[in-house]
Amino acid sequence: MDDLASLEARSLAAIAAAGDEGALEQARLDALGKKGAVSAALATLGKMAPDERRAAGAAINAVKDRVTEALAARKGELKSAALSARLARETIDVTLPVRPSPAEAGRVHPIAQVTDEIVSIFADMGFSVAEGPDVETDDYNFTKLNFPVGHPAREMQDTFFFAPDAKGERKLLRTHTSPVQVRTMLAKKPPIRVICPGRVYRSDWDETHTPMFHQVEGLVVDSSANLGNLKWTLEEFLKAFFETPKVGLRFRPSFFPFTEPSVEVDVQCRRSGGEIRFGEGDDWLEILGSGMVHPNVLRNCGIDPDVHQGFAFGMGIDRLAMLKYGAPDLRDFFEADVRWLRHFGFRALDVPGGE
Ligand code: PHE
Repeated sequence: MDDLASLEARSLAAIAAAGDEGALEQARLDALGKKGAVSAALATLGKMAPDERRAAGAAINAVKDRVTEALAARKGELKSAALSARLARETIDVTLPVRPSPAEAGRVHPIAQVTDEIVSIFADMGFSVAEGPDVETDDYNFTKLNFPVGHPAREMQDTFFFAPDAKGERKLLRTHTSPVQVRTMLAKKPPIRVICPGRVYRSDWDETHTPMFHQVEGLVVDSSANLGNLKWTLEEFLKAFFETPKVGLRFRPSFFPFTEPSVEVDVQCRRSGGEIRFGEGDDWLEILGSGMVHPNVLRNCGIDPDVHQGFAFGMGIDRLAMLKYGAPDLRDFFEADVRWLRHFGFRALDVPGGE
């Protein structure tokens, strides 16, 4: 039985040495396969005498069992080794510093943020958004808004004019968002309830004036809109925008060719030491013009002033941003200084109006 002992030793050694599933399968074939060593040993039984065969048969089958057992055990070992190797390979070092994504590094400009805030507050009140072009006709920017031709009111707004075209028509950069009122009334029938945010242009430059700035126009036209509704709408808007139950407001009688009566609204603030604080102090910052839409404007836009009436307002978005976020100089908004933007800008995923 020496042969059988060395056969077993060889097979078990080959199994123990098998480093992967392929080598293990080869060891199995060498021992238990049709042409394997154990099969060859079993084949010798036929030539033996019955007694000898019984003993040898039992011995060979015992070797076969032990080899089979060793194969299964080694298979299990290889499997768990493979799993541990994979787990080791797939670990993540959570202590590594995270590289900031571009969405983290970039900032939303305060004007864009405040525009979104304004749109969402008015959307809650049932207003939709209307838009118009920056380059306007004299007709929409002035004439249809009841500015008499040649009247000094046209000069009130420091207009940037383009050179006249072949037909002698002189385009301009819109001086206010009010031409979008005209476009809206020409395109839609009352009831109308829109806001129109956008860029406007005037030749002006100081702490609170830049040649390009932003306004949001509001227009409501129906059969009963009145000054009381206008005041309520503005107060509700400003309370929501400044997130306070009370805002210091001052309504002053004023003049615009396209509203009658006209009202200007100032918001209470304190300006000192390069800082601007809202809700306290003795300063007032003018933030909007408003009034009841002039009957001539309704008529110019195809609406019968005996049937419909409305109110309108135009607010300075930039000034609202200065007040809410404490930026004292309007000119900084348009300097494209990355340090300023990092300080006053907003993260891309911030919710408008949220903290
Ligand atoms: N368009 C006016 C301005 O720019 C503001 C305004 C809008 C006034 C609507 C009354 C009604 O000064």
